[in-house]
Amino acid sequence: MINPDSLRQLFADHFGGEGIAFAAPGRINLIGEHTDYNGGFVFPGAVGQGITAIVRPNGSRDVNLHAADLGRSCSFCIDDAQGPQAVDFRYVFGVVREMMAAGVLVEGFDALYAGDVPLGAGMSSSAALESCFAFALNDLFGGKLDRMQMARIGQATEHRYVGVKCGIMDQFASMHGRRGSLMRLDCRSGEFQYYPWQPDGYSLVLVNTCVKHQLVGSPYNERRASCEHVAALAGVETLRDCTWQQLDAIRPKLTEQDYRRARFVLGETDRVMAVCNALENADYESVGHQMYLTHEGLSHDYDVSCPELDFLVDEARRLGVSGARMMGGGFGGCTINLVRNDRRDTFLARVRDTYRRLFSIDCQPIAVEIGDGARRL
Ligand code: GLA
Repeated sequence: MINPDSLRQLFADHFGGEGIAFAAPGRINLIGEHTDYNGGFVFPGAVGQGITAIVRPNGSRDVNLHAADLGRSCSFCIDDAQGPQAVDFRYVFGVVREMMAAGVLVEGFDALYAGDVPLGAGMSSSAALESCFAFALNDLFGGKLDRMQMARIGQATEHRYVGVKCGIMDQFASMHGRRGSLMRLDCRSGEFQYYPWQPDGYSLVLVNTCVKHQLVGSPYNERRASCEHVAALAGVETLRDCTWQQLDAIRPKLTEQDYRRARFVLGETDRVMAVCNALENADYESVGHQMYLTHEGLSHDYDVSCPELDFLVDEARRLGVSGARMMGGGFGGCTINLVRNDRRDTFLARVRDTYRRLFSIDCQPIAVEIGDGARRL
């Protein structure tokens, strides 16, 4: 997380005076991919990287933003329904408008912010931004929203202002994260449990392909549409409610592509449960095995992987990593690896070499620390 003191100084230089510091993190997800918008289970945790913002009400109807890491500014009036065009400012604009729609008496403010979530890595830098501002505005303007309501504000922002029909996982994790714990969320009921994450002898490490995925205007929404189509044919609300028997029964009516996508989602629900059982027995090799199975499904059935991700997962397997898979929406971003501590350094060194030789770019290892959710600093 970016140190708020350096941002406080930048705020003073840019706007003059002082503001209040807030932060919200990005996330990882151990297992349960593309299940959130199907009413299924996810297993995320907040990370140490995130967005830090200095915010101060300015007594007007205008919002003045400065993204210090991008060196870009933007102003808009909170009563303007159109808002800025630049997508990175639409996240904040959408949060403002959704908070107002939820009854929070938002007024104008000045904000300077910066983040350290690698962009395009699939670690939810956009959810971190939404959660940081939802939390800050709720706090500064006397809102009474709880964390789940604020997570839904971020999700609605993606749907209505950015055009990504995402599920709730990213914003949920950014809001509810707790240091040292992963969370299992039932995306249908909204119930969740914290799972202390102390994998003795193992580490989680991300490897960023440094290939960017573009969820905006991407096949992400199309995957979701497939799932909704199959659920409707099966006569259930979401694929979470669809049994293997029901899926088999409607198979003749499905394209092979839709069938495979649904098959992935049903299988992923089973894998989340298998991971929960394995965690109760501290059986990390079984957790890792399920991660590899998830990757196979994401790559072959759900078709959201890419050659760079597949390569990193294959290399991980070859180098004795206990579990590896692509993480997040797909089409680039990073893999999440569960690796025994005694194999970690060799894995990272070898994979860096072979990746560079094949793709002529450097992949980037990212250490994972499970951190806290959105907060006032
Ligand atoms: C993106 C979305 C999430 C989720 C994942 C895939 O991160 O924002 O809602 O669907 O992809 O699991």
